[in-house]
Amino acid sequence: MATESSTPAVTPVFRRAVPGDVAALSQISARTFTDTFGHLYPDEDLQAFLQENYSLAASASLLADDRFAAWLLEKDGAQGQQALGYAVAGSCGLPHAEVQPGDGELKRLYLLPALHNSGWGTRMFQAALDWLQRDGPRTLWISVWSENLGAQRFYQRHGFEKVGEYEFPVGRVRDREFMFRRLAAPRLDPPSVAGSSQ
Ligand SMILES: CC(C)(COP(=O)(O)OP(=O)(O)OC[C@H]1O[C@@H](n2cnc3c(N)ncnc32)[C@H](O)[C@@H]1OP(=O)(O)O)[C@@H](O)C(=O)NCCC(=O)NCCS
Repeated sequence: MATESSTPAVTPVFRRAVPGDVAALSQISARTFTDTFGHLYPDEDLQAFLQENYSLAASASLLADDRFAAWLLEKDGAQGQQALGYAVAGSCGLPHAEVQPGDGELKRLYLLPALHNSGWGTRMFQAALDWLQRDGPRTLWISVWSENLGAQRFYQRHGFEKVGEYEFPVGRVRDREFMFRRLAAPRLDPPSVAGSSQ
């Protein structure tokens, strides 16, 4: 007897990106940036930003650079693999006076809107932080748009705090951007010296 069949939900695959993922990385980067922030900019400025940062050439150079790592969240479908989200991490390039040469940065963390609040953001975030700290604790930085309160809550929950601001160029537009930091280890007060008088 025929029984009602339902297609099982496909669990997305999360994996480290490799040099052959240039097209997938470029496409998901441009799509998620446009989904999240596209409404904020004139089209000419948005296109200039996408071309400069997320073109095939920019994505190829990122994937070829061993100071950076990228991850893709994908699902298998009739048209092959489709990227649902991604993350990029690397050495810190933020314009803050206290950035040290060994500091790391979570540079991008994006999901398609259908996957927001799915828990995948936390999974991708953890993978990126594990990679950044593969040799031990490290001070970590994240840059986030001043009005992206959801992402700021997300980072604060993971121990990051706001330590500065700067202007982030998107074409001719200048966004107000916050810099968040999580120190490698909590600062300890120096031990008090027995017998010292103060
Ligand atoms: C930020 C993001 C990757 C988190 O992934 P997620 O799977 O939604 O996160 P989780 O389910 O693991 O955790 C949920 C938390 O994510 C944050 N979040 C949820 N939706 C969000 C959204 N549209 N934009 C930003 N942050 C969001 C919130 O902090 C939320 O928890 P809260 O509602 O209790 O505050 C994802 O929401 C996203 O891609 N947002 C849009 C792109 C973005 O803002 N990226 C960060 C740029 S700095």
